[in-house]
Formats: sequence, structure tokens, C-alpha cells
Amino acid sequence: MTQAMWLNGVCKTGSSVPHSLRVKVLERVFFGSRCSGGFTNFQRFCQMSALFSPFSIGPVRLPNRIVIAPMCQYSAHEGEATDWHLIHLGHLALSGAGLLIIEATAVEPEGRISPADLGLWSDATEEALHKVLASVRRYAAMPLAIQLAHAGRKASSQAPWDGGQLIPKGQGGWQTVAPSAVPHNPKEPPPAALDEVDLARLTQAFASAAQRAHRLGLDAIEIHMAHGYLLHEFLSPLSNQRQDDWGGALENRMRFPLKVFEAVRDAVPRAMAVGVRISATDWVEGGWDLEQSVALGQALAQRGCDFIHVSSGGVSPLQKIPLGPNYQVPLAERIRAATGLPTIAVGLITEPAQAEAIVQQGQADMVALARGMLFDPRWPWHAAAELGAQVEVPRQYWRSQPRGHTHLFGDVKIGQR
Ligand SMILES: Cc1cc2nc3c(=O)[nH]c(=O)nc-3n(C[C@H](O)[C@H](O)[C@H](O)COP(=O)(O)O)c2cc1C
Repeated sequence: MTQAMWLNGVCKTGSSVPHSLRVKVLERVFFGSRCSGGFTNFQRFCQMSALFSPFSIGPVRLPNRIVIAPMCQYSAHEGEATDWHLIHLGHLALSGAGLLIIEATAVEPEGRISPADLGLWSDATEEALHKVLASVRRYAAMPLAIQLAHAGRKASSQAPWDGGQLIPKGQGGWQTVAPSAVPHNPKEPPPAALDEVDLARLTQAFASAAQRAHRLGLDAIEIHMAHGYLLHEFLSPLSNQRQDDWGGALENRMRFPLKVFEAVRDAVPRAMAVGVRISATDWVEGGWDLEQSVALGQALAQRGCDFIHVSSGGVSPLQKIPLGPNYQVPLAERIRAATGLPTIAVGLITEPAQAEAIVQQGQADMVALARGMLFDPRWPWHAAAELGAQVEVPRQYWRSQPRGHTHLFGDVKIGQR
């Protein structure tokens, strides 16, 4: 029997040693530990799922490459998490995904998209989230990240189910801010252009929220630089029309987002992963584009960025998005190749085979799902069953392992009289 035949057999067939341990030991013995890199030859050789292979974002090890994308819930009270967050995050944390990113969380009250956005700017908002996370953590070991955000000129909006439009001042809304006094929609009142004092305050607000996130025991921070919110507004020439050091040339437009990244990175220990979500293109002629995103990714890589999550659009109502399955994956692929950053692809990724192919072909290191996870909160279980992989499931649900999938939940054992 060749070493290859032996390995193949040991990887796939039963033995008294747990499957996951066998794989780890064999990896170390024959190939060294390379789980934090790309999909290894060893795993391909063993016909293991790429999607379900472990991965590391900086210091944080993920059990698989499935990420639950951040999703605003518009269900907080004065920025404080509510019982809805316990239900919502609680059930997603039992889904078997590799990472759960908590929704866009405002670093100051004026940075909320809607009055009901989650916040992390005070002891009260920190305490409310602490209560939710303590309950979630009691039952779920899934790595947890939080998306720290400021909505800029897209703040002061209604929740989507109320129409999502700008709420005027005096009707529950507030004065929005942006790099320049240019409204998102020409019919809206303009935001106030930020000055140097504001920028210093906002940088500090991101850093303080990061420290609160660390105190909450979260594993990672994703800084929101996408979807037309404040940091994206600095990047895009469509929204940033400043004449000072914070506008004009690409280097100047990147200055504030990079300053915020550095402040957040410095505010938390290295044991916490810090990454970003970007819109890789505005989908508007003359706007932010893929080549500028590559330059941003390279600048972030030099500053110790642990991952980049590649989305697109959101800064202009003139955007023309070529919607379809995988429509943002080529953007992620290019950024990954040019920057070497661990990369998350997102956007209309709905099928297990589709997600598997993205990771297997090296287009991205991880895939994120948003709507697909709400539609099917057990998506990772179903994907594992389809791809012949294993998924971690709370022991209360072990008895639900379907017939014919005897290793789906790993080496679990249950008994009954
Ligand atoms: C209900 C909902 C809320 C969302 N909230 C956020 C958010 O807080 N932050 C963010 O960056 N994107 C947000 N998004 C965008 C998603 O993270 C994701 O990028 C987008 O839906 C495309 O992925 P999908 O095709 O898997 O849904 C939201 C999407 C949905 C459906």
C-alpha cells in the first residue's frame, strides 16, 4: 500500500480515533500545520471539503470558511441590544458557521443608520450587549466579530420596513455628517462637512468602541468601510470633494479610513483580529473602483489588517450593479491576489457547491452569506451534509443527525435506555 493510498483510507474510513484528530495528526506528521494558509494539497488529496477546512484570520482560528455577514436588525433601543438580539444572534450562533459578524454597530449616536440601530458608545450600550453575548456564549463556541460603523450622510434614516427614507430633523432625525456637504440624493438636505476636531473625535469614537468590543470578549472587529457609509464616503471621489489633506488624490481620500484602522488596531491587543469591509467599486463611472480598492488593500495589509470582506456599491443612487450569483466574487479574487490578505467573498452565494468552488478555486478564503442564512439558518448543516463534511452542533440537537450521515456532527455519541 502506498503512503497515498493509506492516507486516503485513514482520512475517510472509520477508526476508534476521532476523525478530526486523525486529520490533524496526519497533517502535522506528513505536511506540517498549514491550516491558516490556502486550501492544502493534503486536504484536496483526502477529498475534504475546502469550505469546511479550518482557517485563521490573524490570531483567530475559524472551524470552517462560512461567515455570517453582518445584518442590521433595527431593533435596538437607544443603541442598546434587546431580546430580539438574543433570539437573532442566539439562533445564528448555533448554525455551525465559522464566524458570525454582528450587525453594523454605531460608534456614536449620530452614526446610526436608523434610530433603532445597535450602538457601542457608552457603558449602557456595552452592558446591554454584554448580557446578550453572555447568554449566547453559554451555549455557542462560534467565533464572534462585530462590525463597527458610522453611517455618515446615510444616517438618520427610517428602518427599511418604514420606507428607509431620510428622517428630517425635528421628526426624530438629526443633522448628518460627511466628508463634504454633498447629499446622497440631490433632493435631500446636505450633510455637514466634518472639520479637524470632528475627525479627531470620530477616530477616538472608533477606538473606544473597539476597546468596548474587546472587553465584551469578541474575537474580531470588522470596520465598515463599505456601502456608502462614512468611511466609504471618504474613499469615493463622488462623495469626497474636499480640497484639504483628506480629499483629492487617492492617498488623501484613503487617509481618514486608514487613520481609523490604525486607531482601532492600536486600541486592542493582537489577540483580537481586526479587518475591514469595503465596497470594491461604486459601479459608477468616475467613482471608487477596483484598482483603488487594491491600493487600499495593500495599505491596510501594511498596517496589520487581518482580513478584507469584499462587497460593493452603496455610495450613489446612479450605481448600475450587475446582480447575479457570484457577482462580487471576481472583485474579491483580484483583491486577494494583489494584496495577499485573507479575503471574504459575499453576495448572492446561496448554494453549497457554489461556495465550495469559490474556496476550492482560491477565489476567496471565506464566503459570507446574509439573506441565505436568514432563509435557512441551518445552511452550514445542510452544506456539510451535501459536501460530505462535518459541522459542530450543540449537543441538545445531536439526535437530529439524519440517517446516512453518521459523521455529520463529528464523533458524537448519544445513548438512551
Ligand atoms: C437584513 C440585512 C441587513 C444588512 N445589514 C448589513 C450591515 O449591518 N452591514 C453590512 O455591511 N451589510 C449589511 N447587509 C448586507 C449583507 O451583509 C450582504 O453583504 C448582502 O446582503 C449580500 O449578501 P447576500 O446575497 O448573501 O444576502 C445587510 C443585508 C441584509 C439582508
